[in-house]
Amino acid sequence: MTAVLEARHIVRDYPVAGGFLRKDSAVRALNDVSFRVEQGKTLAIVGESGCGKSTLARILTLIDPATAGELLIDGEAVNLAGMNAELRRKVQIVFQNPYGSLNPRQKVGDMLMEPLVLNTKDNAKLRREKAMAMLTRVGLMPEHFNRYPHMFSGGQRQRLAIARALMVNPRLLVLDEPVSALDLSVQAQVLNLLADLQDEFNLTYVFISHDLSVVRYIADEVMVMFKGEVVEYGTRDAVFDAPQHAYTQKLFSATPVTDIEAIRARVARRRAAGIGSAA
Ligand SMILES: Nc1ncnc2c1ncn2[C@@H]1O[C@H](COP(=O)(O)OP(=O)(O)OP(=O)(O)O)[C@@H](O)[C@H]1O
Ligand SMILES: [Mg+2]
Repeated sequence: MTAVLEARHIVRDYPVAGGFLRKDSAVRALNDVSFRVEQGKTLAIVGESGCGKSTLARILTLIDPATAGELLIDGEAVNLAGMNAELRRKVQIVFQNPYGSLNPRQKVGDMLMEPLVLNTKDNAKLRREKAMAMLTRVGLMPEHFNRYPHMFSGGQRQRLAIARALMVNPRLLVLDEPVSALDLSVQAQVLNLLADLQDEFNLTYVFISHDLSVVRYIADEVMVMFKGEVVEYGTRDAVFDAPQHAYTQKLFSATPVTDIEAIRARVARRRAAGIGSAA
């Protein structure tokens, strides 16, 4: 089976300007990072602050180029020097900060329709219909179409960011700490929404998180990074049951764990009731 995403030996150096009598040098933010994600699966990426998670997220979504290595999306190699317009459509990103990632001057409807203007030949009527449908799909209301981002709560903003990412039918969503800024009960609702959308659209996720209880809940596979390198990579159960690397063992014993039972209970109640409520 072809992986939706495959990274081979990815390296990323950031140039560091030298000072007086000092040469320019480079910081290696990623070193030899390789992994693959199959369709419909979730790969969780975990690691301490500064280990290179967001750097990797920007490379996977073709925002920044890798210094070396190969990236394949749906089996097609990304051309490091090219535009990759169609590949860009296939990989969308949702950022951590729901307050900073939406343009405050753009109405919600325009924000959702914009990717269609850029990527499709849909006419204005169809664009509007699709945006309205997506608002409802992520648990918001058609009347939110003409509102500005500041009129929404943090959880609702993450729903908007997810809606925008899904407008062009991506294959892969990279979620960089998508629920870290939200209250616990709202986290559970947004995680539920992501799980439902994954089932419905057979989406593939790369989910970056420092919260191990969230990772345990959503991941099929887990990759642990340390100082720009992959130190652990395997199925969720293998990594959680028997962490191999000293750093992972330390991480797992030291991290305070969110009350995942509360999240689970909520998920179960919601599923039993057959409803989804907006955060
Ligand atoms: N534009 C940049 N220029 C130079 N160095 C950078 C740049 N962006 C990131 N770095 C460095 O690369 C390393 C990895 O940063 P990155 O943001 O990917 O970490 P992270 O794992 O996402 O951390 P966090 O958990 O805090 O979000 C850090 O040492 C950082 O200082
Ligand atoms: Mg980051």
